[in-house]
Amino acid sequence: MTRIPVILDGDPGHDDAIAWVFAKAYEDLFDIRAVVSVSGNQTIDKTTWNARRIATLLGIDAPVAKGAVKPLLEPVMTAGNWHGESGLDGPVMPEPDQPLFEGTGVELMAKVLRESEEPVTIISTGPLTNVAQLLMLYPELKEKIGQISIMGGGITYGNWTMAAEFNIVEDPEAAWLVFHSGIRLFVSALNVTEQALIRPEDIPRIKAVGNQVAQVTGEWVEFFIQYPMAIGYEGAPVHDPCAVLMLAKPDLFKTKDLYVDIELEGEYTRGMTVADFRSWGEHEPNCTCAMEIDQKRYIDLLCEALHAYDGRVVNL
Ligand code: BDR
Ligand code: CA
Repeated sequence: MTRIPVILDGDPGHDDAIAWVFAKAYEDLFDIRAVVSVSGNQTIDKTTWNARRIATLLGIDAPVAKGAVKPLLEPVMTAGNWHGESGLDGPVMPEPDQPLFEGTGVELMAKVLRESEEPVTIISTGPLTNVAQLLMLYPELKEKIGQISIMGGGITYGNWTMAAEFNIVEDPEAAWLVFHSGIRLFVSALNVTEQALIRPEDIPRIKAVGNQVAQVTGEWVEFFIQYPMAIGYEGAPVHDPCAVLMLAKPDLFKTKDLYVDIELEGEYTRGMTVADFRSWGEHEPNCTCAMEIDQKRYIDLLCEALHAYDGRVVNL
């Protein structure tokens, strides 16, 4: 099977980290060409540092670049309540084993697209600022993007506000540009990612996989589960892996092709993903949305994927 060239674009973040655990574990399918951070769950210096440490832990052999420092128009807004002061609180992590890419995240993305013979897939698990900048600065490279799989939005409700999900409301203008780009989009939104729950009783099973990455993943979940459980969730909604799994394990989901637009105005609704469920709507669908996930199989797949790291040990 031909491997798909992939750019990982995210704001790690515990669930971004677990998304990347899956992406690297599926290396028969994905050829990770670059990792790019974005400001989101924490400030850009913190998410970049986290991205480099995750790449080292997992053995991702691709350049890591520092992406957008702030959203296109909005000020920086972080989610320390969910992800802690570092953006990836919890387990001890290794020091990065490779230098940061000398250039911006968008420059690295452009380089990967330019050099690739095959269309490149972007997996975006943070605000869409990097992708929007890429489309604005290098419009000629748009045709090299095969597809974008996004964790973002809610069909049709929010978590950060009552209408809007964090990744989209952090940078609504960037999301608008991506959803209007005409690029093939896969969307994992809150309606499905909040079903991607890891419950307290799943944590021993994750750790029992028995390797270092499984141990760290279990400890990430142990930290990440605290805030959502305190506000009423039954576990941790581990959103971001859905963006990887929609490509790697499509039968894990029920999907629907929909037209989704981004609300840029609205006293209560800025950053909302507005989905058209009418069969007679005036627009063709612009994305494939995950509608349901098999939650039990999600945990099984995580434990299975973690076995890809059997025998891997780095200095912590
Ligand atoms: C999204 O926001 C971030 O906190 C998570 O990493 C995820 O990408 C969920 O709304
Ligand atoms: Ca994220």
